[in-house]
Amino acid sequence: MKTDKSINFFLMFIAILMMLTTAYYVNRIALRNNVSLKVDEALSLTGARLTDKVYATVEKTKSNKVGKNEREEFEFNIINIGDNALNNWNVYLTIPKGAKIESSWNVEYSYYNDERDMVVLTPDYYYLSINPMEYVDFGVFMSTPVQYFPTEIRFVGYQLLGTYYTQINRTLGIIYLFWLIAFIGFLVTKFNLRSYREKQKNDVKLILQSMNTFISFIDAKDPYTRGHSKRVAMYAAEIAKRMQLSEDEIQNIYYAGLLHDAGKISVPDAVLNKPGKLSDEERALIQNHTVAGGKMLKQMSSIRGIRETALYHHERYDGNGYPEGLKGESIPLYARIVGVADSYDAMSSNRVYRRHLNKDDIIEEIQKGSGTQFDPDIVKYMVDMINDGYVNVVKMETADNDEHSSDFHITESDVPGVYMGY
Ligand SMILES: [Fe+2]
Repeated sequence: MKTDKSINFFLMFIAILMMLTTAYYVNRIALRNNVSLKVDEALSLTGARLTDKVYATVEKTKSNKVGKNEREEFEFNIINIGDNALNNWNVYLTIPKGAKIESSWNVEYSYYNDERDMVVLTPDYYYLSINPMEYVDFGVFMSTPVQYFPTEIRFVGYQLLGTYYTQINRTLGIIYLFWLIAFIGFLVTKFNLRSYREKQKNDVKLILQSMNTFISFIDAKDPYTRGHSKRVAMYAAEIAKRMQLSEDEIQNIYYAGLLHDAGKISVPDAVLNKPGKLSDEERALIQNHTVAGGKMLKQMSSIRGIRETALYHHERYDGNGYPEGLKGESIPLYARIVGVADSYDAMSSNRVYRRHLNKDDIIEEIQKGSGTQFDPDIVKYMVDMINDGYVNVVKMETADNDEHSSDFHITESDVPGVYMGY
């Protein structure tokens, strides 16, 4: 969703940039070139081509007497023989003294001077432009006291320069091509992103299905620790978040927390739930859940750190833990984080052999273990979470699941990190 928004924003930004670029270039090219040239020609109406741009013809199409005057219709043709369109043109026509224009077609008329012996003919909007090798025709009805036939008109118009068109078209072509490529790129990215997200969703589903299978096995083994896996996962993810690890790492740590005790499946029930003191052999069996977990989760190599966490979450910072006696930073980070979260949850929940400790005792215990059992950096975050009440939020959120323990399972909304909100 977030990605969608930024892509749309980016696209809008590109669109505005494109428009500004287009406007800038059009403006620059227009300024650098004489975009139009005034054409002001006296044209013979006898059909003689006096210029290489435009010529004109005239025809008397009607003539009859109305009272003392002649009533005549003249039809004019203006032909563009140049290479460029003629725009915004007017025609100046001299008429006899006392003559009067009565009506016209395709053009409007107005008198040019006080003597009223010159008319200006202005084209209707549709005929404003004459393209190369095209013509326009128009006509006037005139009543005149004397015999009259026009021999010349003055044509004034504006010729757009070809270079202007070529350059504008070329620039626009490049810009539109760029636009098209950007748009296709956008569609492809969007499509890929959608399939990638689908795949991610499926991956999460698949991971959660296997996680839930594991968790139901672990919880079935040890009802007293029901909900333990989920709480440890949440504490561990929160520590990771406060350590400002990346979203991917937070998510991996969450998964690693969920399955850290997977190896307990291999410990006999009688040993696991024994209330009394354990023999050395029994203790060894319980401690072996780390190695057993590591072996089980070897196959889950796609989630980074999950195997190491199961294997090393009982290592101690001072090197006195099991199974390998790793020390300090040589214990993988996820295992150090889950180790602290695991111990906190053990102290704060009831177990078969004792009731949970109170808050102050837990803080004291954890701080006592700082630098010996636990990584001192991680202890800081855990103590903060106890003091600011985050741990209670976790307990409340997991409490409901404990009551309905038979259908206790992790859903997509439980998993922190990048998949949220998709
Ligand atoms: Fe454990």
